[in-house]
Amino acid sequence: MPIEILPTDSVIGAEVRGLTLAEVPRGDTLELLEDALEKHGVLVFPDQSRVTPAQQVAFSRPFGPVKLVGGEHEKIAGNPEIFVVGNTGKEPVIFAPTIAGGELEWHTDHIHLPDPARASLLLAREVPKSGGDTLFACMYSAYDALDADTRMLCDRLEVLNSVSGLNVYLEGQGYSEQAKPAPQADPPTVWPLVRAHPRSGRKALYFGNQVSIGIVGWPEDKARAFIADLTEQACRPALRYRHHWKAGDAVLWDNRRVLHAGTPYDLANERREMHRTTIRETAPIKLVPPA
Ligand code: OGA
Ligand code: MN
Repeated sequence: MPIEILPTDSVIGAEVRGLTLAEVPRGDTLELLEDALEKHGVLVFPDQSRVTPAQQVAFSRPFGPVKLVGGEHEKIAGNPEIFVVGNTGKEPVIFAPTIAGGELEWHTDHIHLPDPARASLLLAREVPKSGGDTLFACMYSAYDALDADTRMLCDRLEVLNSVSGLNVYLEGQGYSEQAKPAPQADPPTVWPLVRAHPRSGRKALYFGNQVSIGIVGWPEDKARAFIADLTEQACRPALRYRHHWKAGDAVLWDNRRVLHAGTPYDLANERREMHRTTIRETAPIKLVPPA
Protein backbone atom coordinates (compact mmCIF):
# COMPACT_ATOMS: atom_id res chain seq x y z
CA MET A 1 0.00 0.00 0.00
CA PRO A 2 1.47 3.41 -0.88
CA ILE A 3 2.05 5.85 1.96
CA GLU A 4 -0.43 8.70 2.07
CA ILE A 5 0.05 11.96 3.98
CA LEU A 6 -3.24 13.70 4.72
CA PRO A 7 -2.93 17.17 6.30
CA THR A 8 -5.46 18.06 9.02
CA ASP A 9 -7.70 21.13 8.78
CA SER A 10 -5.47 22.82 11.35
CA VAL A 11 -2.33 24.83 10.70
CA ILE A 12 -0.22 21.79 11.66
CA GLY A 13 -0.62 18.03 11.72
CA ALA A 14 -1.10 15.28 9.16
CA GLU A 15 -2.27 11.70 9.24
CA VAL A 16 0.04 9.08 7.75
CA ARG A 17 -1.75 6.10 6.19
CA GLY A 18 -0.31 2.90 4.80
CA LEU A 19 2.59 2.63 7.20
CA THR A 20 3.22 0.40 10.21
CA LEU A 21 5.60 1.22 13.03
CA ALA A 22 6.47 -2.47 13.05
CA GLU A 23 8.82 -1.81 10.12
CA VAL A 24 11.98 0.20 10.53
CA PRO A 25 11.85 3.19 8.13
CA ARG A 26 14.81 3.45 5.76
CA GLY A 27 15.83 5.10 2.52
CA ASP A 28 12.99 6.86 0.69
CA THR A 29 10.46 6.08 3.42
CA LEU A 30 12.66 7.68 6.08
CA GLU A 31 13.23 10.71 3.87
CA LEU A 32 9.51 11.07 3.23
CA LEU A 33 8.79 10.90 6.96
CA GLU A 34 11.55 13.40 7.81
CA ASP A 35 10.14 15.81 5.22
CA ALA A 36 6.58 15.37 6.42
CA LEU A 37 7.63 15.80 10.06
CA GLU A 38 9.29 19.14 9.32
CA LYS A 39 6.49 20.28 7.05
CA HIS A 40 3.50 19.29 9.22
CA GLY A 41 5.13 19.29 12.68
CA VAL A 42 2.89 16.49 13.96
CA LEU A 43 2.37 13.10 12.27
CA VAL A 44 -0.44 10.80 13.35
CA PHE A 45 -0.18 7.06 12.62
CA PRO A 46 -3.49 5.35 13.37
CA ASP A 47 -4.01 1.65 14.19
CA GLN A 48 -0.65 0.79 15.72
CA SER A 49 -1.92 -1.27 18.69
CA ARG A 50 -0.12 -4.39 17.56
CA VAL A 51 3.28 -2.67 17.48
CA THR A 52 5.43 -3.97 20.34
CA PRO A 53 7.52 -1.73 22.61
CA ALA A 54 10.69 -3.14 21.01
CA GLN A 55 9.31 -2.29 17.55
CA GLN A 56 8.47 1.26 18.68
CA VAL A 57 12.09 1.70 19.81
CA ALA A 58 13.43 0.25 16.54
CA PHE A 59 11.14 2.56 14.52
CA SER A 60 12.43 5.58 16.47
CA ARG A 61 16.17 4.96 16.08
CA PRO A 62 16.62 6.08 12.46
CA PHE A 63 15.47 9.58 13.51
CA GLY A 64 18.31 9.91 16.00
CA PRO A 65 19.67 8.52 19.26
CA VAL A 66 16.85 7.31 21.53
CA LYS A 67 17.16 8.60 25.09
CA LEU A 68 16.83 6.65 28.28
CA VAL A 69 14.38 8.75 30.25
CA GLY A 70 12.98 8.84 33.75
CA GLY A 71 13.08 6.73 36.89
CA GLU A 72 12.25 3.04 37.22
CA HIS A 73 8.54 3.67 37.91
CA GLU A 74 8.23 5.36 34.52
CA LYS A 75 9.56 2.39 32.56
CA ILE A 76 8.31 -0.96 31.40
CA ALA A 77 10.23 -4.15 32.00
CA GLY A 78 12.75 -5.01 29.32
CA ASN A 79 12.39 -1.76 27.35
CA PRO A 80 14.25 0.99 29.20
CA GLU A 81 13.91 3.35 26.22
CA ILE A 82 10.14 3.55 26.71
CA PHE A 83 8.96 6.30 29.05
CA VAL A 84 5.45 5.65 30.37
CA VAL A 85 3.16 8.66 30.55
CA GLY A 86 -0.19 8.37 32.32
CA ASN A 87 -1.77 7.17 35.55
CA THR A 88 -1.38 3.38 35.33
CA GLY A 89 1.98 3.15 37.12
CA LYS A 90 2.84 3.55 40.81
CA GLU A 91 3.03 7.31 40.41
CA PRO A 92 1.23 9.34 37.78
CA VAL A 93 3.30 11.01 35.06
CA ILE A 94 1.09 13.82 33.82
CA PHE A 95 1.86 17.04 32.00
CA ALA A 96 -1.58 18.56 32.33
CA PRO A 97 -3.78 20.62 34.61
CA THR A 98 -5.89 18.65 37.07
CA ILE A 99 -9.11 20.50 36.24
CA ALA A 100 -10.83 21.63 33.06
CA GLY A 101 -9.80 25.18 32.27
CA GLY A 102 -6.65 24.89 34.43
CA GLU A 103 -3.44 26.47 33.20
CA LEU A 104 -1.75 24.42 30.49
CA GLU A 105 1.90 23.43 30.44
CA TRP A 106 3.07 24.32 26.94
CA HIS A 107 6.50 22.88 26.31
CA THR A 108 8.95 21.25 23.97
CA ASP A 109 10.44 18.07 25.40
CA HIS A 110 13.65 18.31 27.42
CA ILE A 111 14.39 21.96 26.65
CA HIS A 112 15.79 22.06 30.19
CA LEU A 113 18.45 19.46 29.37
CA PRO A 114 21.73 19.97 27.50
CA ASP A 115 20.53 17.39 24.96
CA PRO A 116 16.89 18.31 24.27
CA ALA A 117 14.54 16.08 22.30
CA ARG A 118 14.34 16.73 18.56
CA ALA A 119 11.26 14.58 18.26
CA SER A 120 9.02 12.44 20.46
CA LEU A 121 6.86 9.48 19.54
CA LEU A 122 3.88 8.71 21.77
CA LEU A 123 1.88 5.51 21.29
CA ALA A 124 -1.50 5.34 23.06
CA ARG A 125 -2.00 1.99 24.82
CA GLU A 126 -5.03 2.92 26.92
CA VAL A 127 -7.06 6.10 26.67
CA PRO A 128 -9.80 7.65 28.81
CA LYS A 129 -13.35 7.80 27.45
CA SER A 130 -13.12 11.56 27.50
CA GLY A 131 -10.40 14.14 28.12
CA GLY A 132 -6.66 13.57 27.89
CA ASP A 133 -6.34 15.16 24.45
CA THR A 134 -2.98 16.60 23.53
CA LEU A 135 -2.65 20.11 22.06
CA PHE A 136 0.10 21.09 19.63
CA ALA A 137 0.92 24.65 18.54
CA CYS A 138 2.86 25.71 15.43
CA MET A 139 5.91 27.78 16.35
CA TYR A 140 6.68 28.70 12.71
CA SER A 141 3.28 30.38 12.47
CA ALA A 142 3.64 31.88 15.93
CA TYR A 143 6.94 33.50 14.98
CA ASP A 144 5.70 34.69 11.59
CA ALA A 145 2.60 36.26 13.17
CA LEU A 146 4.54 38.46 15.62
CA ASP A 147 4.70 42.14 14.78
CA ALA A 148 8.05 43.22 13.29
CA ASP A 149 9.37 44.85 16.49
CA THR A 150 8.58 41.85 18.67
CA ARG A 151 10.11 39.55 16.07
CA MET A 152 13.34 41.55 16.11
CA LEU A 153 13.35 41.58 19.89
CA CYS A 154 12.74 37.82 20.08
CA ASP A 155 15.55 37.21 17.56
CA ARG A 156 18.14 38.30 20.09
CA LEU A 157 16.76 36.88 23.34
CA GLU A 158 18.18 33.91 25.17
CA VAL A 159 16.00 31.94 27.55
CA LEU A 160 16.82 30.10 30.79
CA ASN A 161 15.03 26.76 31.09
CA SER A 162 14.78 24.63 34.22
CA VAL A 163 12.73 21.70 35.44
CA SER A 164 12.16 23.76 38.61
CA GLY A 165 9.62 25.75 36.59
CA LEU A 166 7.78 22.55 35.72
CA ASN A 167 7.85 21.40 39.34
CA VAL A 168 6.35 24.66 40.59
CA TYR A 169 3.58 24.16 38.03
CA LEU A 170 2.93 20.52 39.05
CA GLU A 171 2.86 21.53 42.71
CA GLY A 172 0.35 24.26 41.87
CA GLN A 173 -1.79 21.60 40.18
CA GLY A 174 -1.75 19.50 43.35
CA TYR A 175 0.46 16.68 42.10
CA SER A 176 2.38 14.85 44.83
CA GLU A 177 6.09 15.15 45.45
CA GLN A 178 6.61 11.70 43.87
CA ALA A 179 4.87 12.73 40.67
CA LYS A 180 7.43 15.46 40.02
CA PRO A 181 10.57 14.98 37.97
CA ALA A 182 13.79 14.83 39.99
CA PRO A 183 15.13 18.31 40.69
CA GLN A 184 17.64 19.49 38.15
CA ALA A 185 21.20 19.18 39.35
CA ASP A 186 22.60 21.09 36.39
CA PRO A 187 22.27 24.83 35.88
CA PRO A 188 19.36 25.92 33.67
CA THR A 189 19.95 25.54 29.95
CA VAL A 190 20.28 28.70 27.91
CA TRP A 191 18.83 28.50 24.41
CA PRO A 192 17.89 31.15 21.88
CA LEU A 193 14.19 32.02 21.92
CA VAL A 194 14.21 31.77 18.13
CA ARG A 195 15.89 28.83 16.46
CA ALA A 196 16.30 28.00 12.80
CA HIS A 197 15.02 24.57 11.88
CA PRO A 198 18.02 22.55 10.66
CA ARG A 199 16.06 21.09 7.72
CA SER A 200 14.22 24.15 6.45
CA GLY A 201 16.09 27.13 7.91
CA ARG A 202 12.69 28.51 9.03
CA LYS A 203 12.55 30.30 12.34
CA ALA A 204 10.52 28.89 15.21
CA LEU A 205 9.93 30.07 18.79
CA TYR A 206 11.55 27.73 21.29
CA PHE A 207 10.39 27.95 24.91
CA GLY A 208 7.90 26.61 27.44
CA ASN A 209 5.49 28.61 29.56
CA GLN A 210 6.44 26.90 32.83
CA VAL A 211 9.93 25.57 32.14
CA SER A 212 11.28 28.87 30.76
CA ILE A 213 12.07 30.61 34.01
CA GLY A 214 14.03 33.63 32.78
CA ILE A 215 15.55 35.65 29.97
CA VAL A 216 19.26 36.47 29.99
CA GLY A 217 19.81 40.04 31.22
CA TRP A 218 16.17 40.61 32.26
CA PRO A 219 14.67 40.84 35.74
CA GLU A 220 12.69 37.70 36.60
CA ASP A 221 9.28 39.42 36.79
CA LYS A 222 9.65 41.05 33.40
CA ALA A 223 10.81 37.76 31.86
CA ARG A 224 7.92 35.75 33.32
CA ALA A 225 5.38 38.33 32.16
CA PHE A 226 6.93 38.33 28.67
CA ILE A 227 6.83 34.51 28.48
CA ALA A 228 3.21 34.47 29.66
CA ASP A 229 2.25 37.00 27.02
CA LEU A 230 4.15 35.19 24.31
CA THR A 231 2.45 31.91 25.25
CA GLU A 232 -0.96 33.49 24.88
CA GLN A 233 -0.14 34.73 21.39
CA ALA A 234 1.90 31.75 20.20
CA CYS A 235 -0.40 29.01 21.46
CA ARG A 236 -3.74 30.60 20.62
CA PRO A 237 -6.39 28.25 19.26
CA ALA A 238 -5.91 29.33 15.62
CA LEU A 239 -2.32 28.02 15.70
CA ARG A 240 -3.18 24.69 17.30
CA TYR A 241 -3.92 21.12 16.37
CA ARG A 242 -5.83 19.15 19.00
CA HIS A 243 -5.28 15.40 19.03
CA HIS A 244 -8.10 13.34 20.44
CA TRP A 245 -6.53 9.93 21.09
CA LYS A 246 -7.81 6.51 20.15
CA ALA A 247 -5.99 3.48 21.56
CA GLY A 248 -3.38 2.48 18.98
CA ASP A 249 -2.72 6.02 17.73
CA ALA A 250 0.95 6.88 17.50
CA VAL A 251 1.92 10.53 17.20
CA LEU A 252 5.38 11.73 16.21
CA TRP A 253 6.08 15.43 16.74
CA ASP A 254 8.89 17.79 15.88
CA ASN A 255 10.07 19.44 19.11
CA ARG A 256 12.08 21.93 17.03
CA ARG A 257 8.95 23.65 15.74
CA VAL A 258 5.91 22.71 17.81
CA LEU A 259 5.00 23.14 21.46
CA HIS A 260 2.59 20.71 23.08
CA ALA A 261 0.43 20.53 26.19
CA GLY A 262 -1.59 17.78 27.84
CA THR A 263 -5.21 18.34 28.86
CA PRO A 264 -6.95 16.95 31.96
CA TYR A 265 -8.91 13.73 32.36
CA ASP A 266 -10.53 11.95 35.29
CA LEU A 267 -7.39 10.70 37.02
CA ALA A 268 -9.28 8.81 39.71
CA ASN A 269 -11.67 6.86 37.49
CA GLU A 270 -10.10 6.58 34.06
CA ARG A 271 -6.93 4.92 32.81
CA ARG A 272 -4.48 6.49 30.40
CA GLU A 273 -1.22 4.83 29.37
CA MET A 274 1.03 6.24 26.68
CA HIS A 275 4.44 4.94 25.66
CA ARG A 276 6.97 7.56 24.62
CA THR A 277 10.27 7.25 22.84
CA THR A 278 12.32 10.41 22.99
CA ILE A 279 14.74 11.19 20.17
CA ARG A 280 17.77 13.29 21.03
CA GLU A 281 18.73 16.52 19.26
CA THR A 282 22.04 16.22 17.44
CA ALA A 283 21.95 19.52 15.49
CA PRO A 284 23.22 22.72 17.12
CA ILE A 285 20.62 25.09 18.62
CA LYS A 286 21.93 28.53 17.73
CA LEU A 287 20.80 32.12 17.71
CA VAL A 288 19.67 33.00 14.23
CA PRO A 289 22.05 35.60 12.78
CA PRO A 290 20.34 38.95 12.08
CA ALA A 291 18.93 39.18 8.54
C1 OGA B 1 4.84 14.03 26.60
C2 OGA B 1 3.70 14.91 26.88
C3 OGA B 1 1.30 15.09 26.91
C4 OGA B 1 0.16 14.15 26.99
O1 OGA B 1 4.65 12.80 26.63
O2 OGA B 1 5.93 14.53 26.34
O3 OGA B 1 3.90 16.08 27.06
O4 OGA B 1 -0.95 14.55 26.59
N1 OGA B 1 2.50 14.36 26.89
O5 OGA B 1 0.37 13.03 27.47
MN1 MN C 1 6.03 16.57 26.53
